[in-house]
Amino acid sequence: MLGRLAPRAAAGDMHRFSVAPMMDYTDKHFRFLMRLLTRNATLYTEMVAANALYYTNRHAAADATADSMIPRSLATNAESIESPCVLQLGGSDPDVLAEASRMASTYHPFTEMNLNCGCPSERVAGKGAFGAALMREPALVAELCKAMRQGGGRPTTVKCRIGVDDHDSFEELQRFIATVAERAHVSHFIIHSRKAILSGLSPEQNRKIPPLIYEYVYRLVEGFPGLRFTLNGGVLTYEDIDTHFERCPTLTGVMVGRAVLDRPFYWSEVDSRLHGRDNPGLNRREVLAAYGSYCDAEMERTDPSRQRSLRNLLLKHALNLFAGEPMSRKYKQRVEALRQRGDVSVSAILSEAGEQLHEGVLERRPGSEGQVAADCSDSVLIGREMG
Ligand SMILES: Cc1cc2nc3c(=O)[nH]c(=O)nc-3n(C[C@H](O)[C@H](O)[C@H](O)COP(=O)(O)O)c2cc1C
Repeated sequence: MLGRLAPRAAAGDMHRFSVAPMMDYTDKHFRFLMRLLTRNATLYTEMVAANALYYTNRHAAADATADSMIPRSLATNAESIESPCVLQLGGSDPDVLAEASRMASTYHPFTEMNLNCGCPSERVAGKGAFGAALMREPALVAELCKAMRQGGGRPTTVKCRIGVDDHDSFEELQRFIATVAERAHVSHFIIHSRKAILSGLSPEQNRKIPPLIYEYVYRLVEGFPGLRFTLNGGVLTYEDIDTHFERCPTLTGVMVGRAVLDRPFYWSEVDSRLHGRDNPGLNRREVLAAYGSYCDAEMERTDPSRQRSLRNLLLKHALNLFAGEPMSRKYKQRVEALRQRGDVSVSAILSEAGEQLHEGVLERRPGSEGQVAADCSDSVLIGREMG
């Protein structure tokens, strides 16, 4: 099905719009769903802990069955579906990151590798001493990026905040970027435009409470004309994206996270609006059918002991497909009711729940007249622990 869809943008454009890495969400199934809506957006994996990969690999040397221990967050679809896809790694040991990058790129030809320097969670930035904690150590970040590039043989980028705790001046951010760019030849930075506060705030609060300061990103773009910057944080609409490109025409791209989870179908015009290409053009009925068939196939090749949790995950990704449309709540209630019954396939659940929607909503194609303004007040997203 995907093979018949619109062509992809040239590599130079691939960063114009990207879907943020989001733990517990941007797995291979969510990425498959997103590919039904856009061929050109760059998709990120969830953060994969380098340690998890590294120790799997060492174990695998001694145990041929250890393949099954590949972290769930590393699982991918075929390259023709995923690409362009960026693997995000988290870690703070150059040897471990080099080996994890090598192993990951053997497993799948990711377009790029990205180092997480923005996650504020206690497990990552506290005990783990990586994620946002790395913003205090630009020289180490440079070492880590070099190791990742050597190990994985892929371009390596950094996703960071504009600062961490009291290290939040523009000058410190500038020093961080300059050090990493000069020492490791990293040329692309993705900036979540708020600082991280490492004690006292949960990851979720850390995505809301520290104020967004887009001005820092604009100033980086102006101050480092040889580097590329992607702006992230608080982008909700195409109009927001236009505003950033108008204010800062040489900005490389914009990355969107929660607004994609909250209303995925809204972003089915990314290819035409941001890449000047045809949209895949599927209506919601076709998206439900294609995603449903994919889910059934995934269920079939999964061990029965893991099918229940997989089914829940697959359905979670499709819950917000009708966000903002009349009857969307009914759709979600129907999915929920059918989910309780173990004997109904995912495709049947989605198809039956979809019938709660008006015909016009199911049939409406991206970009056609009458798109109802989204109202995400009934978002049911749960479990947003990272970031
Ligand atoms: C549920 C959830 C999980 C996240 N997991 C990650 C992650 O694994 N790696 C990362 O760099 N950022 C993670 N983030 C942060 C997002 O990538 C993004 O930087 C943040 O949500 C701000 O963008 P937004 O305002 O468009 O959502 C996560 C965010 C959410 C909501």
